[in-house]
Amino acid sequence: MSEHQGEGDEGGASTPVGTRRTFFGWVTTVAAGLIGFGLAVPLVGYVISPALKRRERPWVDVGSLEEVPLGDPKQLDHVTTIQDGYLKNQSQKAVWAVKRPDGQVSVFSPMCTHLGCGYRWDGDVKQFKCPCHGSVFDIDGKVVAGPAPRPLDLLPSKIENGRLLVVFKEFKPGTKDIVEL
Ligand code: FES
Repeated sequence: MSEHQGEGDEGGASTPVGTRRTFFGWVTTVAAGLIGFGLAVPLVGYVISPALKRRERPWVDVGSLEEVPLGDPKQLDHVTTIQDGYLKNQSQKAVWAVKRPDGQVSVFSPMCTHLGCGYRWDGDVKQFKCPCHGSVFDIDGKVVAGPAPRPLDLLPSKIENGRLLVVFKEFKPGTKDIVEL
């Protein structure tokens, strides 16, 4: 009898209370989840957005067009600021600018496409030469000799008010295809 009563009391009292507790537990969990999600979305966006923007590269003024002689490539140095996530890096870079008779200008990355060494212009033979492994390029950047797997890399450039503007990019050396880093 008492055994039966005990079961009944336990069963009668625990089921509705347990159900209510379970229900409020779920409500609390869902509410906490929604609040957490509401806080997390803007936070994640704040954290991730600089990383997504890190490939944005600015136009950089590398000098007056008058500095570049016709048909005689000129190395132009410039300081560029690159936003890499939260970091702003300033670095000195160089480009090679080639002015054509029609006024067009080509701008080459200063890194040899073989393994990334700096190259120079040899005015006597009118060729770019890399000292590391002997790659040679003509004035248009085409490979004339050596192990370079592709022509010199062209950089985006434009002329504004007599100034030469360039977007400095880096490319993976040693590959036939152009792969931007
Ligand atoms: S890095 Fe220029 S030839 Fe090798």
